[in-house]
Parts: sequence; structure tokens; C-alpha cells
Amino acid sequence: MHIAELKLPHLITPLPGPKAQQIVERDHRVVSPSYTRDYPLVARTGRGALVEDVDGNTFLDFAAGIAVVATGHCHPQVVAAIQKQAAELIHMSGTDFYYEGMAALAEKLAEIAPLTGPKRVYFGNSGTEAVEAAMKLARYHTGRPNLIAFHGCFHGRTMGALSLTASKSVQRKKFGPLLAGVFHAPYPNSYRGAYGVRSEHAAADALAYIENELFKRITDPQDVAAFFIEPIQGEGGYLPAPAEFLQGLERLCRTHGILLVVDEVQSGMGRTGKWWASEYAGIEPDMVCTAKGIASGLPLGAVIAKAEVMDWKPGAHASTFGGNPVAIAASLATINVLEQGALANAARMGEFIFGQMAGWRERHRTVGDVRGKGLMIGIELVRDQKTKEKAPELRNRILEMAFHRGLLILGAGENSLRLAPPLIIDEEQAAFAVRTLDACLSEAERGL
Ligand SMILES: Cc1ncc(COP(=O)(O)O)c(C=O)c1O
Repeated sequence: MHIAELKLPHLITPLPGPKAQQIVERDHRVVSPSYTRDYPLVARTGRGALVEDVDGNTFLDFAAGIAVVATGHCHPQVVAAIQKQAAELIHMSGTDFYYEGMAALAEKLAEIAPLTGPKRVYFGNSGTEAVEAAMKLARYHTGRPNLIAFHGCFHGRTMGALSLTASKSVQRKKFGPLLAGVFHAPYPNSYRGAYGVRSEHAAADALAYIENELFKRITDPQDVAAFFIEPIQGEGGYLPAPAEFLQGLERLCRTHGILLVVDEVQSGMGRTGKWWASEYAGIEPDMVCTAKGIASGLPLGAVIAKAEVMDWKPGAHASTFGGNPVAIAASLATINVLEQGALANAARMGEFIFGQMAGWRERHRTVGDVRGKGLMIGIELVRDQKTKEKAPELRNRILEMAFHRGLLILGAGENSLRLAPPLIIDEEQAAFAVRTLDACLSEAERGL
């Protein structure tokens, strides 16, 4: 059956199939061994929320290319926009010349950004480039050297962004020394607490650390250019920061003239059912970093800043490819699809899935926490709900089991499952994913 006629998975060979096996072998011989592949999916075609592999097996994609294909695979409006733009002008370099798309997308991002007043937009090619630009701008604008990030957060892998990243030590190991002037504070983990205890005080403990430890012992707040935070940790475990923490952080920033940068590379562009996850806390950052879902799969990243903050001079920062016309066309089409209904659908489908999972902590002794917003949903797996001992092997097993039932999902953090489907899924697909995970958990628990 053709992928366009399907809504749910359809497996026709054992996995991986014969063609997939061959490609995996070729890949293993020549591709960088630094990539982490949880299971051997070899994709050939994608349509909507479905992906077909090289052997003709069809999967339901709740990974979306790591939360990227917001409008689904090959959305007709996005494909048409890419094709039209590719036939007209593929590249020009917006750092040296002008084209309308760049102005149009900057206007649109300025319109939807959670910032008041005039705004300006810088374009790069990825999340890490957006973060890198925001780090440089924060120092440039404030004239201050220090940058503060949070334990568990992931901001990218170039040297600057990597210095902020504090997600997994393997991502930093052997790459030091990293950037000087970067410090880290505990993230307000409302399941485990800021220090792995006192979960109900996570927000207050994390704020107290900044005021009483960091600002008193490590860096004077007057030396701090910016805080960088993911309002919902992505790579770190799909873990939302409590609203009162983000509000407290905003107050601290205002008190000390520090910039607040939200990294919405994973949580932004409608994934949570609002344009930005930080909107749930009602905060107003000074800069927003975005990428991933912004162009449904074409490489694009952006920093949206208050105009008075983006005050760097010509030549201070730029990128040859950043804001490439084709990526911009894909982004404008993506935003249009989101505005036409995919954003509202993300909120609706999120509610539906959370409703379906409501009793999971009672029904599944390995489910420690179900959390998130919209279609950014994390499920933390534990050996014991009381001790909260992490269950990374079980998590990995569930990823593999789901794959064999036709459901693509990714892990996040040490022991969480992440659900990050395209924002255009329907209820039948959402129900299938929930049912499948439910069955995988039950089967795995029987074997424990
Ligand atoms: C929150 C966040 N920031 C930055 C990045 C880096 O983005 P990229 O991989 O596009 O460089 C990621 C990627 O996962 C991310 O989740």
C-alpha cells in the first residue's frame, strides 16, 4: 500500500529488512561514529506523520527528525514553496545583499515572538548557531563577560554553545578547555528537585542557589551578561521549568541588568501548543533562540531580540548561508501551515494524549513522571517510583520495542522517552502511539 493511503504503521518485513541492513553496514563503515542511533530505521520517504523505510515498512513518526518536521514530512505547501524558490533563486547571501524573503520572515518572527516593542532578527543555519550568536550578542551588548546556563540543558555543540550545554558529559568529554566565563546553576527539576531532593521546593531552591551561592561566591551579578535557559529541557528529558522559577529568574535579570535568553530551539515554533513554551510562564525574555521546527526540515536558525539589544555594528557577526532563500521560503510556508491550524492542533492533541496517559503512574510501576506541554511530552522511567532510581536500560528497551511495532520515538535524558510528533497528527495516530507505548510498558514490566 502506498504511504499516502496510510494513517497507521504497516510492517511487511522483519526489522531491519534486507535493504536496511545493507545500508546500515555501509553507513557504519564510513559515517562518523559520533552519531547515536537507537534502532536501525533506514528512511526512504515521508508523508505527514508517516515514514516508509527502504524495505517498504511504514512507521508512525513520533520523533519528527528530532522535533523538526513540524508540519509533517513533505507537507505539500512546504514542498511547493521550496520548489518555487529553488527554481527562482537558491542563494544570494543575505549578509551582503537583500532579498524579500529575509525581510518577510524577520517581520513574521518579530510578530510572533514573545517580546514587546521593536525587534530585530539574526539568521543562522542551526540551533547551535542561533545560540552562538546570542552568546556573542549578550557579551557585545552588555560589555559583560559571564554567561550562566543550567544543569541538564542542551544548547548545541559548537565550542561556544557547548560551553553552555550541561546535558551529558560525553558531549563535553575531551573537548575542553571550553569557553571561560560560563557558569552553571541547578535546573529546577520539579520531579527530582534542584539537587535531586525536595522536588516541591525545586523552583525556590534553584533561585536561592543563584542569589546565595552563584552571585556571592562565583560571579558578581554585574559581571553577568546573560542567563541562557530552556523553558522546557529537550535533550535533558522533556522537563519543564516551573513558571514561578522562570518568573523569579526574570526578576533577577531585571534587578541586575542581566539579559534573559530563552533557548526555544526545541520547545518553540508551536510545539507546545503555543508559539513559545516561555509564554506559559508569562515571562518576557530579551532574546529567543529558535531553529528545528522553524522550516520543517530545511536548515535555519534565528535569534529574535529586542531591537535595543541587537545593537551590533556591521561586520560584527554574519553567516554566508544563514537565512538562505530556500530555507526561508520553507519557513514562511511552515508558519502559514501552523497558523492555519497545526498550532491549535498541537494543543488539542497534547491534551488528548495527556488525558490518555492520566492514569499511567498508577497502572505502570515503572512510570515515574509524565510531563510537558502540547506535543512536547516526556515520560520518565524508573525502577522504583518511591526511590526514583533511574531505569535507562528499560527506556532503551521501550524504544526498540516501539520500533518493532511501527512507532518511532526517541529517548531524552538518561531515562526518559520523548514524544515529539509532527504537529499535524490526528486523534487516531495519537491514540495508536499511546496504545503502543502502553503495551510496550506492560510487556516490559512483566519481564522485570
Ligand atoms: C534546546 C536546543 N538548543 C540547541 C540545539 C542545537 O541545535 P542544532 O542541533 O540545530 O545545532 C538543540 C538541538 O537539539 C536543542 O534542543
